[in-house]
Amino acid sequence: MKTIKFNEPFISGNEIQYIRDVFDIKQFSGNGKYTQRCQGFIGARLNTDVLLTDSCTSALEMSALLLKEDIYQEIILPSYTFSSTAAAFARAGFRLVFAEINPDDMMLDIDDVNKKITANTCAIVVVHYGGYCADIRRLQELCDKKQIYLVEDGAQAFDCFLEGKALGTFGQLGCISFHETKNIHAGLSGALLINDHKFFERAMHIWERGTNRQEVLKGLVDKYSWVEIGGSFYPSELQAAFLYAQLEALDRNYQERKAVFDVYRDGLIELREHGQLGFPEFPSDFKPNYHAFFIIFNSEQECDAVREFLKEQQVMAYIGYVPLHSSRVGKKMGYHENDLPLTEEYSKRVLRLPFHNNLAIQDVEYICKLIKTCLKEKCI
Ligand SMILES: Cc1ncc(COP(=O)(O)O)c(C=O)c1O
Repeated sequence: MKTIKFNEPFISGNEIQYIRDVFDIKQFSGNGKYTQRCQGFIGARLNTDVLLTDSCTSALEMSALLLKEDIYQEIILPSYTFSSTAAAFARAGFRLVFAEINPDDMMLDIDDVNKKITANTCAIVVVHYGGYCADIRRLQELCDKKQIYLVEDGAQAFDCFLEGKALGTFGQLGCISFHETKNIHAGLSGALLINDHKFFERAMHIWERGTNRQEVLKGLVDKYSWVEIGGSFYPSELQAAFLYAQLEALDRNYQERKAVFDVYRDGLIELREHGQLGFPEFPSDFKPNYHAFFIIFNSEQECDAVREFLKEQQVMAYIGYVPLHSSRVGKKMGYHENDLPLTEEYSKRVLRLPFHNNLAIQDVEYICKLIKTCLKEKCI
């Protein structure tokens, strides 16, 4: 029986050629030809300013450093997310305020967010889960009204567009992941999208170990000095060369993933119509990136049973995020499981199905058939 893997990293074919070019140029450390090319490509495609980072985690950490002003600041974020969304802001000294999710799509519930805004709220950090789109227009309005920042954790949402505008460019700052589990990648990499130009100069300094080295290179100042509490946030040229080869193949990548997504959708829509499981719809005028296909079962038991059944057939499907508020760190911060009952309940019902560019259409059909069999024959 062959194994159907959950993820297989995408390979475009030109990665080694571009890496060889870096060997010829002999500038390995970063912010060279390929970093510039990647930033140019992403900036033009998403219509914003971009700094390439070594991960989405780094882009989130840069965002936190950019917004940090005093010790009282809070951010509101979902608990249903990856640890980096929270850790970046906690490390910078923000108080974390977790908000509920909407169980239909596992993304921030705006009414709960609204209730949790205080005079100390600095920003809302929203996560676009699985390449779906959070209710970003309403969040943007809310943030404008309350005069707080909006940061988009678009780790999984690179190259998604709502009404022609890229996810990650609605807030002042957007964070993207190019980890190998994402549609396109460099092993590890990411990007910070700087949508409010007032942050650009400081972001450059923070990016480059807190120094004004770029101004020295441009001849604007004689000596470089320490001007911000920064970090070493950019990738090497080897990673950037790899990434550039992937960026060039973005449209092919999209078509291949769309084919996989459509077969999942067609195969499972009947179960959704009969109320046996759920999966979200894209909003109108949305161009997705087809990052993932996840389903939400009616109970934790059903979700576990289907996952186990698939595993017995060598099909690797995985759970979603484990809530942060009830994690060991969350509890140390004073949160309790029952603070966010919907997040607690629904996170246990999410199953992410295998999704990558090498999945054969027959494999996807087979997975849908297995899910149907399991639910019908009550493998639960
Ligand atoms: C929502 C979210 N934010 C941040 C990250 C971290 O991304 P990276 O691995 O590029 O640091 C992930 C990882 O998948 C994620 O899902």
